[in-house]
Amino acid sequence: MTPSEPTPQQMMNPEKEEMLVESYFTKPAPDDAMPEVGVTPRAAYNVIASEMELDGDPNKNLATFVTTWMEPEARLLIADTLHKNYIDHAEYPRTAEISKRCVRMIHKLFNGPEGQDSPGTACAGSSEAVMLGALSMKWNWKKRQEKAGKDYSRPNLVYGSDVHVVWDKFCRYFDVEPRNIPIPKGKTVMGPDDFREHIDENTIGVIGVVGTTFTGQCDDVVGIDQMLTEMKGKGLEVPMHIDAASGGFVFPFSDPDFTWDFRLDSVVSINTSGHKFGLVYPGIGWLVTRTDAQVAEDLIFYEDYLGEKDATFTLNFSGSSSFVLAQYYQFIRLGHSGYSSVVRAMQDNREALANRLRDMDALTVYDDDNPTLPLVIARTNDNEPFDSNDLVGELARRRGWLVPAYQMPPDNENDRIMRMLVKFNQTRELVDALCDDFEESITYLRKRSEGKVSGPPVHTGHGY
Ligand SMILES: Cc1ncc(COP(=O)(O)O)c(C=O)c1O
Repeated sequence: MTPSEPTPQQMMNPEKEEMLVESYFTKPAPDDAMPEVGVTPRAAYNVIASEMELDGDPNKNLATFVTTWMEPEARLLIADTLHKNYIDHAEYPRTAEISKRCVRMIHKLFNGPEGQDSPGTACAGSSEAVMLGALSMKWNWKKRQEKAGKDYSRPNLVYGSDVHVVWDKFCRYFDVEPRNIPIPKGKTVMGPDDFREHIDENTIGVIGVVGTTFTGQCDDVVGIDQMLTEMKGKGLEVPMHIDAASGGFVFPFSDPDFTWDFRLDSVVSINTSGHKFGLVYPGIGWLVTRTDAQVAEDLIFYEDYLGEKDATFTLNFSGSSSFVLAQYYQFIRLGHSGYSSVVRAMQDNREALANRLRDMDALTVYDDDNPTLPLVIARTNDNEPFDSNDLVGELARRRGWLVPAYQMPPDNENDRIMRMLVKFNQTRELVDALCDDFEESITYLRKRSEGKVSGPPVHTGHGY
């Protein structure tokens, strides 16, 4: 007699748990229709946790700008508040208050003018902040055009090809002509002369990047500001938005005399990612505006279905309070001196990494005396029998390092570079281990090209 299949009710019985566990451990995880019956919490956890082992290790992920380590107390705070919906301002007024405090602190950090109440808003990340900042520029441009009795049907936005893809997205999603200007050959960032001829009365704004995704360098925002100020003097008003997704929580601490923020007259708004060098897990970003008035009244929506009349300026609605509160935690936990110390530590370790890679004759390390993010850009020399892709593949195989190799944007596509972020969790020990692996990978790839190695290399030394 063959035993009959257990009924769903029997399967839910904890005593029969092993059957349920077997069902997931011996078959592929459910990936289409929702399973008919559930499993115990531990079984569900284990099934997912085991699959997560297949992802890369965030601590060895040198590709990401995003925070991969927070203190236990911060994690506790996040866990304690995950269930509070940030948008319920009436129900959670203290969360809303803390969010405003963060906005004011960032506005001050970016040298915004005194006397503003709440010049900005919390967002899911810089992408949402970019959309909101750019929409404000679009609305203000439309008002200016309307007032002057001019056409407002063909807005354009001027930026360089060193921007993050989010700016192209904004233009497509919100029907704005993208004037995406290629970076001149041999350059890596944009300046006023690259933009001047592309700006006209339909330009809603110009984007200056402070800490580009490609190289961590900054556009010449001081020069762009001067150009825009001259244009304003001649009757053409075009504001600048600064994309400080990464730089916003680096340069105020590493280079306080670098003027990139509201100290520049044409800057009307800035986005920054709390979940990058703001040192909070994803997702939290911030839009800060020079003044409260920068956000057009048309873009603010009022609703009262959560208990009191409430104003919102967001694309998202619901989201956890945790990351807003975690940002505030970092602000009061570290203070200005703590952030400065963290940034110094990252820059020191960045220097250590760059110095050792510079000594390797297979590599060229990019240097820049201007303010840059704590990251190293290197390329494999042309005379080597392997390229950057081979090298990052070998680094991944040796110890799971995740280092991206990619093409520079137009017009510099022939340049293929590797980028390594040196974040807070990248201690000197890890930097040294990475450098050792670079050296050994280079030796191995050279030998392999000469046919001198057959199998994979044998690991020696500590840490395996
Ligand atoms: C310069 C720049 N802008 C915008 C973004 C998008 O930021 P987020 O991931 O916070 O949406 C990034 C992300 O890396 C970036 O580097």
